[in-house]
Amino acid sequence: MEMIHTLDGLEILDSRGRPTVRATCRLTSGAVGIASVPSGASTGKAEALELRDRDPSRYRGLGCRKAVGHIRGEIAHALVGVEIEDQSALDQALIALDGTPNKARLGANALLAVSLAFARAQAIEAGIPLYQHFAAIHTPGGLAHKLPRPTVNLFSGGKHAGGQVPIQDVLVVPVAAQTVDEALAMTYAVYQAAAELCLDKYRMRALTADEGGLAPPFPDAEAMLGDGVAAIERAGYTPGRDVALALDVASSHFYADGRYHLGGEPLDSAGMIHHLLGWLERYPIVSLEDGLAEEDWANWPKLREAVAGRALVLGDDFLCTNPGRIRRAIDVGAANALLLKVNQIGTLSEAADACRLAQAAGWHVTVSARSGETEDDWLADLAVGWGSGHLKVGSITQSERLAKYNRLLEIEAESGLKMKG
Ligand code: PGA
Ligand code: ZN
Repeated sequence: MEMIHTLDGLEILDSRGRPTVRATCRLTSGAVGIASVPSGASTGKAEALELRDRDPSRYRGLGCRKAVGHIRGEIAHALVGVEIEDQSALDQALIALDGTPNKARLGANALLAVSLAFARAQAIEAGIPLYQHFAAIHTPGGLAHKLPRPTVNLFSGGKHAGGQVPIQDVLVVPVAAQTVDEALAMTYAVYQAAAELCLDKYRMRALTADEGGLAPPFPDAEAMLGDGVAAIERAGYTPGRDVALALDVASSHFYADGRYHLGGEPLDSAGMIHHLLGWLERYPIVSLEDGLAEEDWANWPKLREAVAGRALVLGDDFLCTNPGRIRRAIDVGAANALLLKVNQIGTLSEAADACRLAQAAGWHVTVSARSGETEDDWLADLAVGWGSGHLKVGSITQSERLAKYNRLLEIEAESGLKMKG
């Protein structure tokens, strides 16, 4: 049993300079947990609601004073001094208090900040690393076994880079690396080679997008992929064998009237699948995220079948870390990998449900940051504790990204755990 002594909230700024929420949870034992929540830009329609003040005179309406006020007021009032059995009991209380299906009343940003701060306070009280506490939340008595492999943003487009090319990210996956340390060193080499390539080819300094990816004026998605392969080669690696590519197509954001507007003639779903298969044939792509739009349910199973055995079919906006959507996708065979973003659902326990559901179906899980991040590093612990195969944090630049990579390096050094094969 735990008891919260005090609960506080603070409006802080994320990596885009927009407000977000931090919570501080002090248990009666004296243990204090502090946690900050991230914020997306390329969001799915089924995500839990991020509560914003909508006061146009302040941060263009994006202020989080209401969400912070809910932590200090209603949530603290309901939880302080009450016996709480565990994380699940805390999260159930938060969900019941909010009372809406998408956390629209108190805000998923308020709820998640409290959920995470409580978890961190409990880990501190127990004197165990956060990743081991997360492992126990995932499976009672569970322990962390493996480290995730980083998948790192190299090139950005779409909503993270002003839309110079419709697809959102080309990522590098250092498949030959044996350790996190080696994975990051290999990624750095490719990133630097890509920066040089941008200078040579586009006469462009290494200006970066929201997640730190390079964002030169690619003429089209094909060039973005080709330049990814060229950067791997320029760094002295063999594409596919040493370093592979992953793609976040984020296709919901260029899907309109039943067509995919990828440049050139708009494509119907069959045409889009055909186009994606062409990319898989020409480039060493091991993971395909949101290859189809979030509402294109009828065609996801066709994509999964067509791609089977060649690349992961990863659902981000499509699944929204939502257990109901994941169950449906498992039933109809619509994907085989989950992109897990805790703030899409709004509490730690529900995200753990989503993770277990996907893993029990034999799916692969990639734990992911958001494009608007904070310097908090809990995400690395979560990816380790929940046994995810990959960690997707953005690029190997910018401190809000590096906080997570550095934490992963720290966990690798102190735990002796090995990276997943
Ligand atoms: P977001 O996008 O954090 O801006 O929503 C990240 C992604 O699509 O993976
Ligand atoms: Zn995505």
